[in-house]
Formats: sequence, structure tokens, C-alpha cells
Amino acid sequence: MSPGMVMPVESRNADYDSLETQYQKGVKHLYDNGIEHVPRKYILPASERPNVVNERSRDATNHVNLKLPIIDFSELQGPNRSQVLTSLASACENYGFFQLVNHGIPHEIISNMVDVSKRFFELPFSEREKYMSADIGSPVRYGTSYNQTNDGVFCWRDFLKLVCHPLPDLLPHWPSSPLDFRKLAVRYVKEVKFLFLMLVDAILESLGLMNKKKTTEEDEDEDEIKEILKEFEDGSQLMVMNCYPPCPQPDLTLGMPPHSDYGFLTLLLQDEVKGLQIQHKENWVTVEPIPGSFVVNVGDHLEIFSNGRYKSVLHRVLVNSMNYRISVASLHSLPFKSKVQPCPKLISETNPRRYMDTDFATFLDYIKSRDSTKKSFLQSRKLTS
Ligand code: OGA
Ligand code: NI
Repeated sequence: MSPGMVMPVESRNADYDSLETQYQKGVKHLYDNGIEHVPRKYILPASERPNVVNERSRDATNHVNLKLPIIDFSELQGPNRSQVLTSLASACENYGFFQLVNHGIPHEIISNMVDVSKRFFELPFSEREKYMSADIGSPVRYGTSYNQTNDGVFCWRDFLKLVCHPLPDLLPHWPSSPLDFRKLAVRYVKEVKFLFLMLVDAILESLGLMNKKKTTEEDEDEDEIKEILKEFEDGSQLMVMNCYPPCPQPDLTLGMPPHSDYGFLTLLLQDEVKGLQIQHKENWVTVEPIPGSFVVNVGDHLEIFSNGRYKSVLHRVLVNSMNYRISVASLHSLPFKSKVQPCPKLISETNPRRYMDTDFATFLDYIKSRDSTKKSFLQSRKLTS
């Protein structure tokens, strides 16, 4: 045994329970205690490890790099809106992902959010632990892995999840340290919500649901769309701060397993450290970070709403042996109680309804009982006929 190894090592024959207790404390805790090998608990079966690549796509470095479509948000507000909407539609159909630049959220608000997330994870474990909860309905939840109570193999991530709507009710539950946490997180949450609403507007237009010309029938259509937009204003928002500590053997594990996001849209902020990969044409493709931009992706609810036109795409996170990686995901959808269904205008004889109605409660029941990775939830809502 190496002398530097202080914490849990299976070869010490420590009893299973105490190892399990260590793992429940998260990977930051393991890393801080000088772990030099990935414990068995985190080792994926060979076929699920990150370096298994489709032979056809293998390049010299074993990596597939691909530039995601870039959407310039400022152009959406100008004379080129219709071209940008076409690019937006094509990104959502072919990639399920795009990078959003020139979004107008001040740089300081974004960098403060990443910074305060880092500082939260740097707090002593005793402080972070206060927010640990097994209750997936809890307004604040600190935890590790993907789904800590169900995961057979753990992944190399710790997280803090905050329910953000309605903010006045939830804010008192948010962490009170670091001292400026609430102040900075609230600013960020409000800005991102506003940006999300502007994006939904563009997405509905890109789906052909908003007509600018007026006829009586189209006026009615617009009223319906306004109703949907109002629902989104009162919609759910969940913020997830992810911390991926350096991992001594990054080829054996993942920061997050392949999954799709259950909401309508996710706006993800990643720091300068690479890690996010998306599935594209049967390859895992690394998303190059663009400083200050958002990675935006279609969630299951938008795939359902668009009746399958826009794709909720599998993605996962790689870890590395050198750097901490921080990301902040903001997941948005309709209010928890709303029904999510294919938009009636996107159903026709040639394009029949492809999904059953669903709601948030159904999703929660599903993840409590099942493996929520892969696209299993979305698959379960598919109509097969
Ligand atoms: C997520 C997610 C990716 C990342 O939080 O759902 O996919 O880069 N995060 O952390
Ligand atoms: Ni995700």
C-alpha cells in the first residue's frame, strides 16, 4: 500500500459499511483525503468506460471534437432574426444542443456564480453536510454521484441542487454560507430565468407556432402561445451546481453517466475545463468550452412538446486527473403540476402523436424506482404504434 494513502482502501479490509459511509460523503471528501486509486465502487464495467470509442470515429488522440452550432442571441433581436431561427431549429433537430453567445447577462454575474459555487464546495465537509438529504423533493439537496440511493456504480461528482421557484419561499432554505452565496445565486437565477423565457419565445417561433401575419384564426393561435409563455413564467427552475474533483484514474469512471435532461431546456455554464460530451451520430463528442457562453440543450419535455422534432440528446461528463471542474446547470420547464404533451399544432395525419402526456410527479416516481440514466424516462413516454 502506498504510504500517501490515508483514506478508504479496500485492501485494508475495512468493513463494507464504513467504506460505504465514506462514499456517501462524496468525491470531494475522498479527494481531499488523498485518494490515489479509484475505489471499486466507482469503476465502470469495461464497455461503459469513457475511452470505448466507435472504431470508425477513432482519431490519433481517441477524441472526437466537433463544434456545436453557435447561436448569437443578440442577432435574434435584430433584422437577422429569421435566419437565426432557422439555425436554432436546425441545431435543436440535429444536435439537441447549441452554444449561446452574446446573451447579454453581465460577465460579472456569471463569473460570480461560478466563483461562489467553487467556494461552496471548498467549505469544510461539516458545513456542506448540513444540506445532504435523501429526499429528492427537498428544496436544497447536497449529494454525490447521479442518484446516490440507486446507483450501483458511483460517479465522480458532488452536487448542490436548489429549487428556485417560487424564490421567496425557497430562499430561506438555501445555504447561508459562503456569506454572499444567496445574494450572488439569486442574481444569477433571475437573469437566467429571463434569458430562458426569451429563448422559449424564439423556440416556439422556430417551431412555426407564432405567426406574425394576422387573421382571426391566427390571433387565436397567438393567444394560445401567450398562454404557454405565461405558464413558463410561472414554471419550474432547478439549479444544479456540479463539482468534479480531479480523479486519479479518469479512464475508469465518469463524472456523470449518459443521461438526458427531463425539463424543457437546460442552460449550462461550464468553466474552462473540458468534460461535457454529447452523443452525436453514434459518437461521443467533446463540447469545447467558450468562456462566458451557455451550452443550451433540449430536454425531454421539449422533445415531447415538439412531438419529436427537437431532440433530447444523451450527454455525459468525463473527469480528468489534473483539474477541478465546476458547472452550473439551470433546468427549466412548466410548473411542476402542469401536463406536458405534444403541441396539438404539431400533430397531423402525416406526423401522428408520438408521446403520452406526462408530468413531473410521473418523472419523480420513475427516478425513485428505476435507473434514470440513458433515455429510459423519455422512452417510457413513447407511443409505439
Ligand atoms: C447536468 C449535466 C453537464 C456538466 O447537470 O444535467 O448534464 O457539464 N451537466 O456538468
Ligand atoms: Ni444533463
